[in-house]
Amino acid sequence: MIYLKTDEEIELMRESNLLVGMTLGEMAKWVAPGITTLKLDKIAEEFIRDHGGVPGFLGYAGYPNSLCISVNEVIVHGIPNSYTLREGDIVSIDCGVVKNGFNGDSAYTFCVGEVAPEVKQLLKTTKESLYLGIEHAVEGKRIGDIGHAIQTYCEARGYSVVRELCGHGVGKKLHEEPNVPNYGRPGTGPLLKNGMCIAIEPMINLGSRNIVIERDGWTTRTRDRKPAAHFEHTIAIKGGKADVLSSFEYVEQVLGEKSI
Ligand code: MF3
Ligand code: CO
Repeated sequence: MIYLKTDEEIELMRESNLLVGMTLGEMAKWVAPGITTLKLDKIAEEFIRDHGGVPGFLGYAGYPNSLCISVNEVIVHGIPNSYTLREGDIVSIDCGVVKNGFNGDSAYTFCVGEVAPEVKQLLKTTKESLYLGIEHAVEGKRIGDIGHAIQTYCEARGYSVVRELCGHGVGKKLHEEPNVPNYGRPGTGPLLKNGMCIAIEPMINLGSRNIVIERDGWTTRTRDRKPAAHFEHTIAIKGGKADVLSSFEYVEQVLGEKSI
């Protein structure tokens, strides 16, 4: 069942997502050649707790860390480890926070130093597709309209859309109904209503859409080992249209003109 949130609950969701945005902003200061993904995870966990939140992913379905950190061909759910970031890498940092009993969930893919132009373009397109999807998240449209917008935008530019993983409803639980695929047909799927809170998270591959889940049960990478991009916002449908609860403003403030 889809839980519709009251305006008061949406404000609590906004607070959780604000802390997610601030945490991603903190990450933007640290992402650079020479840092391990585990170090980033530790910094984020401390930052979240210092600001009155609890990491939303830690312990979720047995997940061992606070962030998902996915480098290059890893699409999502990369487990922080001793890998040291290098010039030219791209790194998706996915962050969840629980505050006041509600989840925030947002992800940004960062460049480590200078990145190949074709990879930068993949990131740019994926981020644009997220905002295009958000434009379709309005009362009276359907879930399939969001996915269709993302899919057609990315495929027209030669990229492929991961099918096995989707966005999702979000609230007291990290994953609620409905599923929010990044592909679909217009006018299909659940009807969008005021009070719905969903995480939209395009996962877009430079090469083929096929994935492999590693033996740790989490790390999800492209089968062809070409790079993948991932951007995510949590939004509420309020007053008929999308209200973006999470924020890339803190990230973009740090990155300045380096931001994609
Ligand atoms: N944003 C991701 C998702 O919605 C992060 C979940 S990681 C998990 O799937 F460990 F919490 F599952
Ligand atoms: Co999510």
